[in-house]
Amino acid sequence: MTEFHSIHHEHARLAEDLERVRAATRVIRDDGVFDPAGYRELCRFINEVALPHLKHEEDEIFPRAAALGLEEEVLALLRRDHEQLRVLSRMARAWGLDPNAAVLPHDGAMVVDRFVRAFDAHARHEEAIFSELERGSGQSLTDRSVKAIRLR
Ligand SMILES: [Fe+2]
Ligand SMILES: [Fe+2]
Repeated sequence: MTEFHSIHHEHARLAEDLERVRAATRVIRDDGVFDPAGYRELCRFINEVALPHLKHEEDEIFPRAAALGLEEEVLALLRRDHEQLRVLSRMARAWGLDPNAAVLPHDGAMVVDRFVRAFDAHARHEEAIFSELERGSGQSLTDRSVKAIRLR
């Protein structure tokens, strides 16, 4: 088992969750249909899975990545992504994203969709960085491929 085994596993599960909640968001956004079960799943995902995931990484994973040689500059970019995701989640709440709500306005669904897409892109970027970091651990981390991923 590698240092990042648990986070790879978590990202894989997140990708599955993202597929499901993205479908629920699309139905609201594109068809104006409010599916209460899909909507509760969406709220649960954001509040109980996605946001705690960010905190877990900041507390547990980023320090390990730093110890393996990931530069502060790259970690700062990942933390900035996290802050942007938190801003989007607050915007979604301001638009009425709440598990007890009976409706989510179209603009709220747009914000949620932005959150879901940004979260997906961020998780993929992180996976690429962590995978390269694992492959490079014990060796020089100045390899070109690593740099290319970091600078995206
Ligand atoms: Fe992250
Ligand atoms: Fe992540």
